[in-house]
Amino acid sequence: MRGTNNYMAISSTFASWNGDGYRTVQMSRPTPNPRGEAFWNSTMGHAWVSQQTVISEIFMSVTSVSLDAAGAKLGEHVIDIGCGTGDTLLAFAEAVGPSGAALGVDVSVPMLDFARHRAAEAGLGNAAFALADATDHIFEPRWADLVYSRFGVTFFDDPVRAFTNIRSGMKAGGRLVFVCFRTMPESPWFRVPIEAARPHVPPQPPVDPTAPGMFSFAREDRLRGILTEAGFREIAIKANDVPIHGKDTTQSMAFITQVGPLPALLENASDEQRKRATEAARNALAAQIGADGRGLHVGLWLVSASA
Ligand SMILES: C[S@@+](CC[C@H](N)C(=O)[O-])C[C@H]1O[C@@H](n2cnc3c(N)ncnc32)[C@H](O)[C@@H]1O
Repeated sequence: MRGTNNYMAISSTFASWNGDGYRTVQMSRPTPNPRGEAFWNSTMGHAWVSQQTVISEIFMSVTSVSLDAAGAKLGEHVIDIGCGTGDTLLAFAEAVGPSGAALGVDVSVPMLDFARHRAAEAGLGNAAFALADATDHIFEPRWADLVYSRFGVTFFDDPVRAFTNIRSGMKAGGRLVFVCFRTMPESPWFRVPIEAARPHVPPQPPVDPTAPGMFSFAREDRLRGILTEAGFREIAIKANDVPIHGKDTTQSMAFITQVGPLPALLENASDEQRKRATEAARNALAAQIGADGRGLHVGLWLVSASA
């Protein structure tokens, strides 16, 4: 793996020799991006694998809206960035057929292994995999007709560099299509359980809304600026409220407590606080989700651009 930029610099205190004694100076120290490579290879990556069926069902509408927008055709070359366990990568491999090819790029060993296993089981010989950070993976130049992502492009340390690199693997005029989250309050499926849980856990330190994470592209002007700087043209960013299809509260809670935004909120909570917060989240969701698991949506950006 070629990931070299998974560190954000933060300020730290060191002693430095200045000729007649040590003085204390502020220096930069690399700190792991909390949503970087290590994160996706930890229990989080394994949780995405164990919850794959739930995730496929829950995001059924997200998948269909974004795959329609992507419009993959027979014979095309597709790259799926942050393909995870392969839901959409497998769909592309089917759509482009044996004369085309689909490449999944991801930093997570367990998630990519699972995707590879699913492709083999489905007999999709045109699916390929790269265990790599999309920021500095060497793509075959001008190979892809289409680059797609479902929630996989908001974790880059340096988004401009990442998208510039991704564009190098696209044919001139190739399509970029991805979905990402708008602000958390615009997704009631997250907001309802999080707001119910929040009073039961210690106060959270303020977070930088642009730091790598699921909501880092929430600001439309920032997102447009990143893509423009990376050289993309004809950028369209459309708000889309997409319904969630959990079978029931239990299924929604499986996502929200294991891979959704709740784990971060519970990080510094005691066992008792976790118990109360999780229960409050479940009750709040149950009050809003119908017997069919529907009733709440997520607020997305559906983004398209050309290379
Ligand atoms: C929210 S998950 C989405 C997974 C999959 N697209 C889905 O919808 O099921 C984000 C994915 O992006 C991957 N990822 C995060 N940073 C990445 C990077 N710099 N390069 C490639 N993949 C990355 C993670 O390993 C993870 O699989």
